[in-house]
Amino acid sequence: MTPAPSPETAIDTTAPLDGSTPRKRLFIRTWGCQMNVYDSGRMADVLAPLGYGPAETPEEADMVILNTCHIREKASEKVFSDLGRLRVMKEARAEAGQKMVLAVAGCVAQAEGKEITTRAPWVDIVLGPQTYHRLPEMVARAARAAGAQIDTDFPVEQKFDLLPQPRADQGPTAFLTIQEGCDKFCSFCVVPYTRGAEFSRPVAAIVAEARRLVAGGAREISLLGQNVNAWHGEGPGGATWTLSRLLYELAEIEGLARLRYTTSHPRDMDDDLIQAHGRIPQLMPFLHLPVQSGSDKILAAMNRGHQADLFFRITDQLREVRPDMAFTSDFIVGHPGEKAEDHAATMALVEKVGFALSYSFKYSARPGTPAAGQPFQVAEAEKDARLQELQALLRQQQDAFNLSCVGLECDILFTGTGRHPGQMAGRSPWLQPVHALGNADLVGRVARVKIAAAMPNSLSATLLDAKELTPA
Ligand code: SAH
Ligand code: SF4
Ligand code: F3S
Repeated sequence: MTPAPSPETAIDTTAPLDGSTPRKRLFIRTWGCQMNVYDSGRMADVLAPLGYGPAETPEEADMVILNTCHIREKASEKVFSDLGRLRVMKEARAEAGQKMVLAVAGCVAQAEGKEITTRAPWVDIVLGPQTYHRLPEMVARAARAAGAQIDTDFPVEQKFDLLPQPRADQGPTAFLTIQEGCDKFCSFCVVPYTRGAEFSRPVAAIVAEARRLVAGGAREISLLGQNVNAWHGEGPGGATWTLSRLLYELAEIEGLARLRYTTSHPRDMDDDLIQAHGRIPQLMPFLHLPVQSGSDKILAAMNRGHQADLFFRITDQLREVRPDMAFTSDFIVGHPGEKAEDHAATMALVEKVGFALSYSFKYSARPGTPAAGQPFQVAEAEKDARLQELQALLRQQQDAFNLSCVGLECDILFTGTGRHPGQMAGRSPWLQPVHALGNADLVGRVARVKIAAAMPNSLSATLLDAKELTPA
């Protein structure tokens, strides 16, 4: 699994081939969290039977989907600038007698569906994250009718039940969405509005999808959810399972070497889940656990529902059961009401816990969220200064963590070739990109290496033993 892409950075993907020759070409640009990356894959899957295959660039595509993120203002605005460029491409294709169907999906579509069609009337389809299974029907309607098709319902039918099974040959690492939506309503966050109420997929569907992924070559599965550790799916016989129970079940799948889950909320880190980290060898010693702030006053204003102390207890307990545990987190500086002493408390939390890597953001007021209307908004210059100070400390910790890995022997899951000839690339247990000299047959295998050197964002290593490691 790659770390969460920044919502300001797009990932371009193309449609899968379903074995037949594609008659039309599809280009998908994805912003935001891994759930969007997973959804883009599902949209490509649902369009493959309609004859859509991969396009290398948007210019040559018969259909372009922008899968968008609404989390901060900058992320949303990117969509509108992209739509401007796509208008030119669409017109150029029309002049050449070709069509381009343009769709906006994801969280901006959900939040600003109407505004998109007003500001960019050349968009054909606007669809929210819960209606991707209706995409083929919307494409057909868009071909028949003029004017944009909008579908931003939260339908009663579940998209997971109606979407085709994901393609199983996605490579050694795979994402599997097990939970969607959020009921937590943090003061600053749009997710409860764009993704809707919490929903947990049932155990049987998750296990079946995981088995398919492993049969197709996945050695690592990252379970995804906006609140993944709040997952409480229906198990066999109607009993409700917790995430820890699901992890024990998935660890039984032969050939599955690694398990991860993201993103978690501190409030839902129960004892069983903490203990599971000490008991399931496939569960990687790495957890992304957003804390947002170290100040109890700001945590309360954020409606996070816990204090800094809970975060300390969780990280301590996890390090007790799994001493090589590493943590990453998300931070927001400049939430309304944040004073210098609150920021100092965040800095103190970072000092105390020590992070392997973290994401930090300036608070961005989002329309319709409670914090946007609160008094005591923090001045932009103050936010800049706090962000700079926090990021300098987080960078220092990241460098120190990477450096502490030098000389260590550990297992790497190799996922592909490196940039230089003869070089192979993979991921450490702590998700760091690792390069080592080796043969192409390492791809999809877990091998023992010794870490030789640390670069700012990756490690280099020497292969010790290329033999396949069997998960315990
Ligand atoms: N579900 C996760 C996070 C989802 S959003 C959680 O509970 O923490 C990913 C990250 O974006 C958040 O952790 C937060 O740090 C950041 N974020 C969300 N809303 C934001 C806003 N309005 N301004 C700045 N950053 C924000
Ligand atoms: Fe947003 Fe809070 Fe829900 Fe995370 S827990 S998705 S930050 S509302
Ligand atoms: Fe962005 Fe929506 Fe994910 S707002 S972070 S794409 S849930």
